[in-house]
Amino acid sequence: MTDDLLRYRAEFPILETTTYMISNSLGAMPRGVAASLQSYCDTWATRGVRAWEETWWDMAREVGDAIGVLMNAPAGSVSVHLNVTLCQAVVASCFDFRGPRNKVVYSDMNFPSIMYFWEAQQSQGARVHMVKTDDGVHVPTERLVEAIDEETLLVPISHVVFRSAYIKDVKAIIEKAHSVGAYVVLDAFQSLGSVPVDVQALNTDFAVGGVLKWLCGGAGTSYLYVRPDLGTKLRPNLTGWFAHEKPFGFEIGPNKYAEPPYRFMQGTSNVPGYYAALPGLKIIREAGVERIREKSKKMTARLIELADQRGWKVNAPRDSERRGGTVAIDMPNAYEVHEELLRRDVLVDFRPRAGVRFSPHFYNTMEEIDRAILTVDEILSDMRVAPGR
Ligand SMILES: Cc1ncc(COP(=O)(O)O)c(C=O)c1O
Repeated sequence: MTDDLLRYRAEFPILETTTYMISNSLGAMPRGVAASLQSYCDTWATRGVRAWEETWWDMAREVGDAIGVLMNAPAGSVSVHLNVTLCQAVVASCFDFRGPRNKVVYSDMNFPSIMYFWEAQQSQGARVHMVKTDDGVHVPTERLVEAIDEETLLVPISHVVFRSAYIKDVKAIIEKAHSVGAYVVLDAFQSLGSVPVDVQALNTDFAVGGVLKWLCGGAGTSYLYVRPDLGTKLRPNLTGWFAHEKPFGFEIGPNKYAEPPYRFMQGTSNVPGYYAALPGLKIIREAGVERIREKSKKMTARLIELADQRGWKVNAPRDSERRGGTVAIDMPNAYEVHEELLRRDVLVDFRPRAGVRFSPHFYNTMEEIDRAILTVDEILSDMRVAPGR
C-alpha cells in the first residue's frame, strides 16, 4: 500500500538523521521555515518600521485564520498569543469570580500549567473542583459532567490528554456546561493537527492550543478561538493597545475594544513566531487532518501491538477512536531507556506515571515504528534486563 503522506518527508530535514517521534512535544521543523524567517529579516531590514503597517499588523489575523481553518473556525475568530497559559489568562480576565457563579471544573489530567493558572485564580474568588482519574489514562466523563452545576462558570479541559492521549468526550461535557450556563475552554494543543477538531460542530465557547507540536510551527505562537457571538460581547481585562479600535490613535482613558480577533490581544506581538508558524500550517492543511488521523491510528495501533508482544505496560486507551497520536509505554527502566533512545537518535520523551511517549506523525514510516521498538529491545538487552520483565 502506498503512503501518500510520505512525500512530505523531504520537507523535514531532521528525518534524515533521526527517528523523530516526539510531535507531542515539538514537531519537526519544515524546511520552509528558514526561508520564511529570512523573509522576516528581509522585511525588517528593508522596510523597517513601515513593516507594521504593510505586513505585520495584519499577519496576526492571517496566522489566526490559517490556524482557524484547520478547526473550522470562522475567519476572524482566532487571535494569536505567546502561549496557552496566557490564553487561559485572557479568558479568565473576561469573567468575574466574586459572585456565586465562580466554580471552575476540570480534570487532574489537564496539562499542569493550566491547573497552576486556575489554582492561582482562587485569590480572585474562583473555586476549583478537580475530578480525579481512576487509572491515569482515562478521564471519568460522568463524574466531570456531574460536577458541572449552576455555580460553574468555566470548564477548562483538554481535548486529548497530554499524559495518556485519551480523547475526552468533549461533546457531552460542552452540552452539560451549556445546559447550566457555564463556558468551556477546550485545550486542543494535543489534538489539532493530529485529531480532527471542529469548534463549530462541538459548539465550544473557547479553544486554545499552540502550533509547536502537531502543527510543526515552532515556539511562540498559540491560539485562542472565541465563539463569534461571545467574541463581540466579552471585554477582557487583560488588554492593551493592540485591542483598541484605534490602536494608532493612542487615546487616553479606558480601552475602546476592537472587534475580534484583535479584541483579545494585548501588546506588541511575537512577529518572528508568525513567520515560523506559516510553513507548517500550510503543510498540515495540504496533507489534511483526516488523512493524518487515519495514518496515526495505524501507527499507534502498531506501537501497542509491539508493546503487548513484549508484555510492557501501555498507558494509552485501547480504543483507537478514543486515542490521540501518542502511545506511552512503561517498559522496565523506562526513564533510562528513554535517555538511551535519545543517545541513539530515536527522539521520544518520558513522563512520570506514563513512561516513554512515542508520538509518530504523518512524516513517519511504519518501518520507523518497528525500528524504534527494536532499539528498545537492544537497549534492554544491553542493560541485561530481559524484555518483558
Ligand atoms: C494539552 C497541553 N496544554 C498546554 C500545554 C502548555 O502550554 P503553554 O506552554 O503554551 O502554556 C501543553 C504542553 O505540553 C499541553 O500538552
